[in-house]
Amino acid sequence: MAKTVVQFTLNGNPVDLYTEPYRTLLEVVRDDLGLTGSKEGCGTGDCGACTMIVNGKTVNSCLMLIPEVQQTDVVTVEGLATNGHLHPVQQAFIDHSGLQCGFCIPGMLMSAAATVKENPQANEEEIRIGLAGNLCRCTGYDKIVKAVLAVTRGEPAQVATNTAPASRTSKEELSPVIMFQE
Ligand code: FES
Ligand code: FES
Repeated sequence: MAKTVVQFTLNGNPVDLYTEPYRTLLEVVRDDLGLTGSKEGCGTGDCGACTMIVNGKTVNSCLMLIPEVQQTDVVTVEGLATNGHLHPVQQAFIDHSGLQCGFCIPGMLMSAAATVKENPQANEEEIRIGLAGNLCRCTGYDKIVKAVLAVTRGEPAQVATNTAPASRTSKEELSPVIMFQE
């Protein structure tokens, strides 16, 4: 199948790809762009481990074909922290021990961040609805919900610092354009 050009923004960085149109956003981000925070659990849209935010809305990136992100703004878990500071939901997950094995957490964080942005005062029921597309086999969900509730209730961070570890937001962070060709 003929390759196609796809341009979008990934965590604030412009991306310019030349790739097969049948590939998914998840494949491209993980395999080509080297951002492996987003996980592939089911690959069929059922678990939410691959959740990214595209133009402000959460998507299952395992189901999104790469041409669908043409000229969009894509955010992955690597892009949640800003200016060296964790996103409030990241900090709250730490404070409230909202994780165990961690596999679901990148997707959970993206759905949590989207929920909090859409409804900054979300109550428990609204948070559970916001996270309904994300499955977790470990935590029983309560600590995750408690963490997000702490954010919507404006509870202060419990850990002394919310400084994010030095991390990249793209494979070629210093390069404004990422181009892949044959
Ligand atoms: S890997 Fe995409 S929903 Fe499970
Ligand atoms: S922490 Fe293990 S799947 Fe959620």
